[in-house]
Amino acid sequence: MGTGPRISFLDIQSYKADKLYRNTKLSHPFFAWLGLRPIFAQHTLAEHQAIGKAASMRRTIVEIGVAEGASAIALCETMAPDARLFLIDPYHLSRIRFLNTLRRAAHRAVRQCHRGTVIWMERFSNDVAFSWNEPIDLLLIDGDHAEPAVWRDWNDWSKFVQPGGLVVFHDARLFEGGWTKPEDGPVRVVDALFRNAQQPGWLIVREIDSVVVVQKQS
Ligand SMILES: C[S@@+](CC[C@H](N)C(=O)[O-])C[C@H]1O[C@@H](n2cnc3c(N)ncnc32)[C@H](O)[C@@H]1O
Repeated sequence: MGTGPRISFLDIQSYKADKLYRNTKLSHPFFAWLGLRPIFAQHTLAEHQAIGKAASMRRTIVEIGVAEGASAIALCETMAPDARLFLIDPYHLSRIRFLNTLRRAAHRAVRQCHRGTVIWMERFSNDVAFSWNEPIDLLLIDGDHAEPAVWRDWNDWSKFVQPGGLVVFHDARLFEGGWTKPEDGPVRVVDALFRNAQQPGWLIVREIDSVVVVQKQS
């Protein structure tokens, strides 16, 4: 998995134990910022690989919801060498705003990927969408998981995805031993768009653990 930052993945075989491990004092992003622990992915290794595969040689990539930067690294490691990776996260939940160790941990981790150009946008996705006007090759939706927010991200952003381009939804699918529930926002939106109806011009092309990848048809 390259020579980038160390990443701790969710392990669905031992999901509860994994949560416990993340529940220690060391779990604070402060320690990831200092490099004293790996960054925490909020996804499995298989999902990480699927995200990387989707980004392969793509040139304009937008990620909504970055957290400690694990999926940003999956995207960065495989995107085209001249790609632009737009990382959108307001990092609004920090208790000590000027320190914001979650944001610092993410910046530290993503800096270790030396491919293409990374553009940080520390704002809410709907604010960024307001003035966005560029075609997108790959969109990863992993921000606010409330159902209305997932609908908003889809409605605001999917129209910019080029024919042949992909949208990756995370936490959008039920799977054995997994953490997702039928009432989760991303699950409900993906079900409504692609399982209970047919979205003209879009097809599900890959599903792995909680990840669903859809492609805009050419
Ligand atoms: C599930 S985490 C993302 C996990 C990340 N993709 C990873 O690789 O570990 C959700 C992130 O979305 C961010 N977020 C919440 N609401 C958002 C919004 N409206 N726009 C963009 N990001 C948002 C949060 O600050 C949080 O860092």
